[in-house]
Amino acid sequence: MQEELKKIVSNAINEIKEAKKENDLLNIKSKYLGKKSKLAELMSNLKSMSIEEKKKYGSLFNKIKKDLESKVNERITEVNVTKDIDFDDTLPVEAKLGSLHPVTIVAKEVTDILKRMGFSVVSGPEMEEEYFNFVALNIPDDHPARDMQDTYYLDNGKLLRTHTSPNQVHAMQKYGAPIRMCAPGRCFRNEDLDASHENTFFQVEGMVIDKNISIGNLMYTMKELLSAIFERDVDVRVRPGFFPFVEPGVEIDCSCLICGGKGCPTCKNSGWIELCPGGMIHPNVLKESGIDPEVYNGFAFGLGITRLAMMKYKIDDIRVLNSGDLRVLDKFNVE
Ligand code: DAH
Repeated sequence: MQEELKKIVSNAINEIKEAKKENDLLNIKSKYLGKKSKLAELMSNLKSMSIEEKKKYGSLFNKIKKDLESKVNERITEVNVTKDIDFDDTLPVEAKLGSLHPVTIVAKEVTDILKRMGFSVVSGPEMEEEYFNFVALNIPDDHPARDMQDTYYLDNGKLLRTHTSPNQVHAMQKYGAPIRMCAPGRCFRNEDLDASHENTFFQVEGMVIDKNISIGNLMYTMKELLSAIFERDVDVRVRPGFFPFVEPGVEIDCSCLICGGKGCPTCKNSGWIELCPGGMIHPNVLKESGIDPEVYNGFAFGLGITRLAMMKYKIDDIRVLNSGDLRVLDKFNVE
């Protein structure tokens, strides 16, 4: 009888292990523990046994019953957790694809256009040295221009770059002249946040250094760039502007995209929209980076792509762009 019981138990355990569905396990339970089971049949022999044997086999039967029952129950819990889901793999699935951030889209557009104009794309660190962010750009320690940019200074003596202009210095020092480069990137300023101010925003720096470069080259480049971005012919004009790393410095305006230059509330009836600053690179900046200002000169510009994305997609609150709110950001999906 011992042998027979052993066999029953080991068969039952194997079947329990292999079973994949709750229903199968319930069938196994009744097969091995039910009224018509082999075990029940053997148990009915108890009646004709001696008292000694009754004691011995009685508790053995009980133990086997309990063990198998708890094994079945454990396995039922297991298969229900890892239950294979029956599904029809021919049904169409409505997959929700991710989308590019509006600033990423515009940054890519701008750099693609500049690439076609022969610019290479470079990048620099967001955690920057004071030397690259200020000093090499002709902004010494006590220069009032430092107040224009509320800087986040870090404990390690570095700072979060306040603009992409330090990339000019990196590129000049690395590649020398002549050079045509652009550098998209994230910048940081300790601003009070409102609908048009963020402490984190994006710019694209552009720079061309060669022989006999003039402000005309800058204007032509901007006209081509902006016309390509806005997919229509725009005019540009320059007004004087001040930045220590350019001389002369300019503010570049483009003809109003809404009224085409006739005058409307968006452009405050001027027909022009202020777009980005730029200028002819200051000789001190060229010199500091090892380029002879007697031989080479160049222009640079710093295009605010966060602002450009807002204009292009008619976003009226800058904070949306850093919010991670997919209900808003998903609208700008590209193919
Ligand atoms: N870096 C300046 C800023 O963020 C913008 C700028 C002005 C960039 C003139 C230029 C430039 O390249 O020539 O405030």
